[in-house]
Amino acid sequence: MEEETRDSTVILPGFIVLEGLDGAGTTTQMKRVVEKMQLSSYPCFGTCEPTEGPIGTLIRQILAKKIDVEPSTLAYLFASDRNEHLWSREKGLFNHCRRKDLVVCDRYLFSSLAYQSLESGYDFVYSLNKRFPLPEWCIFIEVPPEICHKRITLRKEKELFEDLEIQKRILDNYERAFSSLVPRGIKFLRVDGTLPEARVTEMIWSFLDI
Ligand code: TMP
Repeated sequence: MEEETRDSTVILPGFIVLEGLDGAGTTTQMKRVVEKMQLSSYPCFGTCEPTEGPIGTLIRQILAKKIDVEPSTLAYLFASDRNEHLWSREKGLFNHCRRKDLVVCDRYLFSSLAYQSLESGYDFVYSLNKRFPLPEWCIFIEVPPEICHKRITLRKEKELFEDLEIQKRILDNYERAFSSLVPRGIKFLRVDGTLPEARVTEMIWSFLDI
């Protein structure tokens, strides 16, 4: 079963992914959706990529510009972090899905296709990610790059990728990833992330046919 699931033509039931540009509000919505699930007594698990594991921690240092690596190395690291996140025998989210938990994840392989393709090329990044299953639901929180940019400039530390022109190119890469992967059977929603947070959560909630 596990081996059969290692393929991006396979949909992982119960797996929900939130995607968006930096500042779109994916982390806020992941927390809000998990809270709503807990209130409704759904077994669920909220998580994010990069993870809080050793590879994710290393990635955070690269994003904060404390460590410098080749762009392709960063693409490998995101894929390795994802591999642990999915398949770790103890804590892997595949185990959660198998137990019929709903898993809500702030970013997934669409982020790699959108961000790492900038410098490493779409085909290379796809080749690193093609053995990961796709989520049952993917929600894209749409916020214009100009507004995202305003939101993130309010933050103290500036990370990699947080430049307006770069964010516009990331958006194009997201569109490419969605048009190629969504037709494989993902339930896909675009939601207007400029609406009030609670309204965005309501729209996501009514879309999830759980
Ligand atoms: P966030 O925690 O604020 O969402 O930041 C994570 C950053 O990492 C964000 O700029 C997107 C980036 N990222 C990638 O470049 N590739 C990936 O595969 C993932 C999951 C995130």
